[in-house]
Amino acid sequence: MKVLVIGNGGRENAIAWKLAEDPRIKELYVAPGNSETERIAQNIPLHASDIGGLATFAAEHRVDIAVVGSEDSLALGIVSAFQARYLRIFGPTAGAARIESSKAFAKRLMVQEGIPTASYKRYESCRDAGIDFTNTLPFVVKESGLAQGKGSFICRTVEDRERALSAIAERNRGKNPVVIIEEYLTGEELSIHVLCDGKTTLTLPAVRDYKPLYLNLDGTEGPNTGGMGAYSPVDDATPEFMKRVADIVVNPALAALAATGGPFHGGCLYPGLKILPDGSIKVLEFNARFGDPEMQVIVRRLMSPLLDLLMATTDGTLHLQHPLWDSRPCYCLVIAARGYPGTYKQGMRIGGIKEAERFASDIKIFHAGTAREGNELYTTGGRVLNITGRNPEEIYDAAYAITFEGGREEVYYRKDLFLSPL
Ligand code: AMP
Ligand code: GLY
Repeated sequence: MKVLVIGNGGRENAIAWKLAEDPRIKELYVAPGNSETERIAQNIPLHASDIGGLATFAAEHRVDIAVVGSEDSLALGIVSAFQARYLRIFGPTAGAARIESSKAFAKRLMVQEGIPTASYKRYESCRDAGIDFTNTLPFVVKESGLAQGKGSFICRTVEDRERALSAIAERNRGKNPVVIIEEYLTGEELSIHVLCDGKTTLTLPAVRDYKPLYLNLDGTEGPNTGGMGAYSPVDDATPEFMKRVADIVVNPALAALAATGGPFHGGCLYPGLKILPDGSIKVLEFNARFGDPEMQVIVRRLMSPLLDLLMATTDGTLHLQHPLWDSRPCYCLVIAARGYPGTYKQGMRIGGIKEAERFASDIKIFHAGTAREGNELYTTGGRVLNITGRNPEEIYDAAYAITFEGGREEVYYRKDLFLSPL
């Protein structure tokens, strides 16, 4: 078989790594990929937004299934473009992916369907949001459209609010972005990934992702990121809890999407939840794809072939799938460039990967933002490496070995994950 993975981050590296162990796959392509996917697959120099180019490549190379990593490709309509050429692709259509690409759409759908979520107000521009002083702090200011995990701002002061609205206005220069201001919720978060084939759903093990860049001792947090680390399994996700999530979140959302004419099937619906101190749940957001770094721990726990799950999700046979999961906990620590999610240096030489990998036989480092030149590796993004493994102390020892530009000053990662009570 021939499989094409679309994207270049740690999630796509993890997907490709899992697929690469499948003997049925004779050709594995990653477009555009990164320096690590290059070693396990064939990188194809096509950007994830080059929908036409990717569909032509898949048709010419008779790709059996393409797997979409990021929401940006989904929102651009990659799934319909492939399907129009009778090419199989894992992911929902742009219409269904609106549940992620428009927070305004998702919030309205949740309120209409009675899916629990934070109360909110919608504004047609940053200016409109900026002149409404009736919301009680703290609250969360969100850009409705896609923002690569950088569109939500927790505001505790009026100054935070100004900064948030300026950042959103700056990103959308010349346009009037729809803005949401919603109630701030406290509690632990949980990422739920549900494969949907149109008839059946198959829920993957729950994962906890750490979104803030850092956590202060007083409980306040640093800026939001795409995710600084993840682990699975999570104790909160008991079978009863997961049933509740299916009953009050996933099934109503799928029914509502089907009723709006944008049915969600052939991909992964991923609600991000907040578990409130009283045990109730509220949906923070819906995503239409696998999480990053959640997928890095999911593939490391999956003992059955990922290809079977992807194929079954796209051909309506999920009811025949019974994947096996490694019961041992798995952890992922994100190694970032200092300054992320704001401005950071790129093109820094990366050292210490071989040393880091030596810490334990089961440390596996996925690459998120790296490029190779000759024998050297360089950073190309804010999130650079993902260290996965089964022992948090070994993961931290491995992280300590990593250097950027010959030193450790430019390397950033959270030091407080996994080891202490959360
Ligand atoms: P979103 O951009 O909606 O995906 O949210 C990104 C992250 O921001 C979430 O994972 C939470 O950590 C945080 N967040 C979003 N909405 C809220 C909220 N209403 N209350 C508290 N934290 C939130
Ligand atoms: N880790 C959060 C996300 O993928 O959206």
